[in-house]
Amino acid sequence: MTAVTRKAAVTGHPVAHSRSPLIHGYWLKKHGIAGEYGCLDVAPEEADRFFRNFSQSGLVGANITVPHKETAAAACDRLDEAARVMGAANTIWLDDDGALHGSNTDWTGFLGNLDQRAPGWDDTSRTAVVLGAGGAARAIVFALLSRKFTTVHIVNRTAEKARKIAAEFGTGTIGHGWDNLGILLEEADFLVNSTSLGMTGNPPLGIDLSPLRKDALVTDIVYVPLQTDLLKQAEQRGNPVIDGLGMLLHQAVPGFERWFGVRPQVDEALRALIVEDLGGRS
Ligand code: ATR
Repeated sequence: MTAVTRKAAVTGHPVAHSRSPLIHGYWLKKHGIAGEYGCLDVAPEEADRFFRNFSQSGLVGANITVPHKETAAAACDRLDEAARVMGAANTIWLDDDGALHGSNTDWTGFLGNLDQRAPGWDDTSRTAVVLGAGGAARAIVFALLSRKFTTVHIVNRTAEKARKIAAEFGTGTIGHGWDNLGILLEEADFLVNSTSLGMTGNPPLGIDLSPLRKDALVTDIVYVPLQTDLLKQAEQRGNPVIDGLGMLLHQAVPGFERWFGVRPQVDEALRALIVEDLGGRS
């Protein structure tokens, strides 16, 4: 009897740009697993039906990217705490009993990147400034509150969205408009950009970092380019910086383990592979 090849995929719309097949393909090869990981474009009008009938897809599980994370979560039979709190799933899998599980691993990806590249980064940090109030910001606030942060300022162009997330998370999280940024940077131990500003093809972030202490850690979820203007500017003034690529790599780990039975490592060869695919360090 031949074993059935386990197949997973990244689903989204559009999805062709996704680096997930490269990441999972690297791990499949490294571990000698005869599995498959592909790319599946699911049109928005098809998404609800696709996830509700996921057991008929021929896949054991999937990653979900924009704009389907909320639709996928709504279609799951079971959600882990993070997916429930965020109302969004980026990783799903079918159980033996056919139940569809949803998880959100963006927050562990965010922490995994910092823990690997800046061990001890949060030992004494208590106050964070998060720029942006989209889905990525939610995952980051969830992540920071799972550590020792006691104050998380969410700063967004649309202040109302920042206040809404703050209200959802409660004590210690405060929503603001951009006007307050200068004064908030003065007290920050940690600064992260979770907006799409600074990504190739988008407007620059263009903030004044002068109020920020020089020992505050600065990171960005944008990884195209790898060294965003924010990171360059922070590095030039002496702040420690971590780029956002590791978040993408680390968020992929739990899915691979679920679908293929091996917990993979984010190693330097994987990082180099993706950096090369992104066109080097530019
Ligand atoms: P994601 O799910 O990846 O976080 P999103 O939900 O679309 O993406 O959120 C994008 C974030 O980038 C938002 O915080 C958005 O600000 P608004 O809530 O005010 O829209 C921010 N953003 C995008 N373009 C921006 C711009 N030109 N200026 C300021 N903020 C911008």
